[in-house]
Parts: sequence; C-alpha cells; structure tokens
Amino acid sequence: MNLTSNTILITGGGAGIGLALARQLAERGNRVIICGRSEMALLQAQAQVPGLLIRVCDITDQASRQAMVKWLNSEHPRLNMLFNNAGIQQRRLFIDADALADLEQEVATNFTAPVRLTGELLPLLKQQPSATIINVTSALAYAPIADLPVYCATKAAMHSFTLTLRHQLKATTVRVVELAPPIVDTGLGGNERSAGTAGQRMMTPQDFASEALVQLASGQDEVLVGLAAGARKMGEGLFERMNG
Ligand SMILES: NC(=O)c1ccc[n+]([C@@H]2O[C@H](COP(=O)([O-])OP(=O)(O)OC[C@H]3O[C@@H](n4cnc5c(N)ncnc54)[C@H](OP(=O)(O)O)[C@@H]3O)[C@@H](O)[C@H]2O)c1
Repeated sequence: MNLTSNTILITGGGAGIGLALARQLAERGNRVIICGRSEMALLQAQAQVPGLLIRVCDITDQASRQAMVKWLNSEHPRLNMLFNNAGIQQRRLFIDADALADLEQEVATNFTAPVRLTGELLPLLKQQPSATIINVTSALAYAPIADLPVYCATKAAMHSFTLTLRHQLKATTVRVVELAPPIVDTGLGGNERSAGTAGQRMMTPQDFASEALVQLASGQDEVLVGLAAGARKMGEGLFERMNG
C-alpha cells in the first residue's frame, strides 16, 4: 500500500496511538486530518506536528459527526484513508453496583460510531481511485481480559465487522484493514495499566506506529503488532492464561 500522498482522517488523532500514526504519516508526505472532542488536545497536537489539520468532532454525536462528513466532502474531497481509531476503555466488575455506568458511551465510541462513520464516508471513499479503511481493534478482540468485558466485546465486534465489510467491498476500490495493537503506553483507560506485567510489556506509541506502518505498507489485510499476532492465532485459548 502506498503510504505517501494520501488524504487521511484519523479519529482520536489528538493523543496516543492516533497521534503517533498522524505524526509518522504526516512525515511521509500525507495530508493528515485528526479529529477528537477536545479542541485543546487537537491544538496541542497541531503545535507538535506541523501541517496537521484538525477538526473538533465527537464521533458519537450524530450532528457533530455528520457536520464533519459534510466538511470532508467539501474541503477534502480526495479523502482516501480512514483510520477508525478513537476509543475508550472502562473497567467493569459486574458484582459492583456501577458496572453499567457509561455503557452506551463505550459501545458507541468503540463500535456504533465507527460503523456509522464508515457508512457515511463510503460514498466519498468509493469515488477515489483507491481507498482504505483501517479499523483499530485490539489483541483483546481475540482473547478478552476479564475486567474489561464490554471493551473487549466491542473490539471483537469490530473485528467481525471488519471481516464482513472487507468481503462486501471486495469488488470495489476500497480495501478494509484491521489494525490490532498490543499493550501501548497511552492514556487509554486511565493509568492503572502502567503497573504490573501489563506495564512491562507496553510498547511506546512511536514504536507501535512505526511497526504498524511497515506492515500496512506491505499490504496485509490484518496488521497484528507484537503480542496481537499470538492472540490472533491462539484466540480464546489464551483466556485462562491471561486471566488466571
Ligand atoms: N493503548 C493500548 O494499549 C491499546 C491496545 C489495543 C487497542 N487500542 C486501541 O487504540 C485506539 C487508540 O487508543 P489509545 O491507546 O491511543 O487511547 P488514548 O490515548 O486514550 O486516545 C484515544 C483518542 O480517542 C479520542 N476519542 C475518544 N472518544 C472520542 C469521541 N467520542 N469522538 C472523537 N474522538 C474520541 C480521544 O480524544 P478526545 O478525548 O479529545 O475525544 C483520544 O484522542 C483505541 O481504539 C483503542 O481501543 C489501544
């Protein structure tokens, strides 16, 4: 896959994995647009990465998302790459009273909104000589961690959606790629993850983005970075080992 001269939207590009991808893709000569809810985070990202284009958008808010889609159609009609990257992660213990707090927001951010955005941008993507949708899932899509039950389920759903969308679009010019990170050192889910063995196995967002772009450039349908490759192979066979 050609990773220069594209017009790219990265949802959740103001921090973490999205920002690392945005930086490296901008350095390779792409036009990169990032979106997120916090204008401050987007402005800070723009100050760090010259040339980044920013758009305040809550992808779970229909009006906000559709305004962005309209803006992309008029201002960036050559958009040919979409990274469905924005995500949130919540610990939920179903023996606790607040297990269902913010359930809809987690499901919407990680699943419903990227599916809607994909459908809303497809008419534009299909107009391009070639286009790519990259869905950011997780190693946890294949083997869940017990205290992240809804997060893992949304990532498994996104994995499944990616397979079927790829199949449906195979006669078009739009490719569909899954990008599954391992544990990456970002603000996802708060800072609890830095402790213990998870912390020891974390990749930096920069190293993750470098490896992901090497695999993306090679044209793979599934970009499985670090321990995501083993998780994809072993699937739920890893569950007891991971949660023992
Ligand atoms: N870090 C890991 O270990 C890891 C592992 C596997 C998969 N992933 C996946 O990688 C992706 C990026 O995660 P990350 O680790 O980089 O997390 P992060 O540092 O917390 O970044 C998440 C980004 O998503 C944005 N976002 C959240 N809700 C949004 C919404 N409703 N609309 C628009 N933007 C929204 C946030 O910006 P605002 O708050 O300003 O909106 C932020 O820029 C996620 O899909 C995550 O599930 C991460």
